[in-house]
Amino acid sequence: MILNTTEYVKFFRQSSPYIHAHRGKTFVMMLSGETVDHPNLPHIIHDIALLSSLGVRLVLVHGARPQIDERIRSRELERVFHNDVRVTDKAALECVKDAVGSLRLKLEAQLSTGLVNSPMYGSRIRVVSGNYVTAQPLGVVDGIDYLHSGEVRRIDAKGISRQLDEGNVVLLSCIGLSSTAEIFNLPVESVAHQTAQELKAEKLIMFSANKGLFNAEGELTRSIRPLEARHKLLPCQDAEGRRLLMAALEAGQGGVMRTHIISHEDDGSLLVELFTRDGAGTLLTLDRYEEMRTASIEDVGGILELIRPLEEKGILVRRSRKQIEREIGLFSVIVRDGMIIGCAALHLFKDGHSGELACIVVHPDYRRSDRGDVLLEQIESRAREEGISRLFVLTTRTSHWFAERGFEQVMVTDLPQDRQNSYPVARASKVLMKTLDE
Ligand SMILES: CC(C)(COP(=O)(O)OP(=O)(O)OC[C@H]1O[C@@H](n2cnc3c(N)ncnc32)[C@H](O)[C@@H]1OP(=O)(O)O)[C@@H](O)C(=O)NCCC(=O)NCCS
Repeated sequence: MILNTTEYVKFFRQSSPYIHAHRGKTFVMMLSGETVDHPNLPHIIHDIALLSSLGVRLVLVHGARPQIDERIRSRELERVFHNDVRVTDKAALECVKDAVGSLRLKLEAQLSTGLVNSPMYGSRIRVVSGNYVTAQPLGVVDGIDYLHSGEVRRIDAKGISRQLDEGNVVLLSCIGLSSTAEIFNLPVESVAHQTAQELKAEKLIMFSANKGLFNAEGELTRSIRPLEARHKLLPCQDAEGRRLLMAALEAGQGGVMRTHIISHEDDGSLLVELFTRDGAGTLLTLDRYEEMRTASIEDVGGILELIRPLEEKGILVRRSRKQIEREIGLFSVIVRDGMIIGCAALHLFKDGHSGELACIVVHPDYRRSDRGDVLLEQIESRAREEGISRLFVLTTRTSHWFAERGFEQVMVTDLPQDRQNSYPVARASKVLMKTLDE
């Protein structure tokens, strides 16, 4: 696409607020082994150099999965995985060291090319690597010793920050060192999200073979909140998408406000994502902070405020403050900026395998974005944990909503005896039931 002068000026003006917003901010960027091998890497490096020259503090974390695999194959070793995690024995560790070492050099070389014949000609980037990632062994799981496969134990955020303060780009890899001088192979996604958390980075940016995360209908998701992403996107991701999304969710839980997932194939996707309003990939944003949790006694007032209008309309049975206080532990709530905007409760019956979903409500201002489903899923998962296989709901006006979600109308006599005894005859609620699999 070639811009004429007017378009160019417009584009430049539109990107200036972003240039201003990103200056002095810390971005952690994950480049998987696939990204580092991709023919588009030189363009990505130019764009990274551009960001660095605009004053963005950059930490790059690279992986090496395909390169490790290639070395294992060429040495005719066996690739061993357990629960989708590589078992790294001594011979495999040599492949890891070899692959990571040569990728590091490749990246350092690319970042130091003086960027001749590139849009970044004349810029100078100083890259530093070091022992910033401390690892520990994954250990033995199901009787399988993961040997040199490890997990992140600590990130030296102070050490990294000092380098960033100096204007250096920090390059980390999927290798971590232990206090016993051992070397461990780590999932690159964990190193990336934990580094972002420890540095309190403004952004975690992860490159992917896809444009971003797609929903079940095959549409690219532009922007999504973590709670919704877990519910809507996680079930329809391939292995890579799942790894990226899980890392993004972990980063979100650790306080990283924004995670971007963008393509390593499309030239310029990094710049489009960071300097245009619509972006190029998927943004997981915590901006309007929201969480789901089990209710505690401080939430009683908020729950009452949420359900009172529905009680007044007769949609919900009236509950006293005392009753809610007594039953508070049965409630799950969605809290946004300290305000309760959704709730649902799970009652258990004496028979040990039946439960009742009650009081499921989403504040009217926050409907039409899946929160009802998220609450239902939460209650179902709590019910499964309690060994419940029959989940009931009593409703006067919402039976279709439940029917669309797998509930079927049953007789009052299908309820456990204790609930039949307290069935509100005057309300003549419909009884619906959903069978939960293990
Ligand atoms: C039920 C509820 C929790 C769902 O919340 P939500 O996930 O934000 O969903 P929405 O309200 O946006 O509704 C989602 C869909 O269900 C439909 N729906 C909502 N309430 C419904 C009802 N009472 N009967 C049938 N369909 C209903 C909506 O029209 C919408 O359909 P669409 O996607 O085809 O447009 C919410 O509507 C609510 O709080 N309702 C009032 C309280 C209530 O009735 N609770 C059940 C008591 S037993």
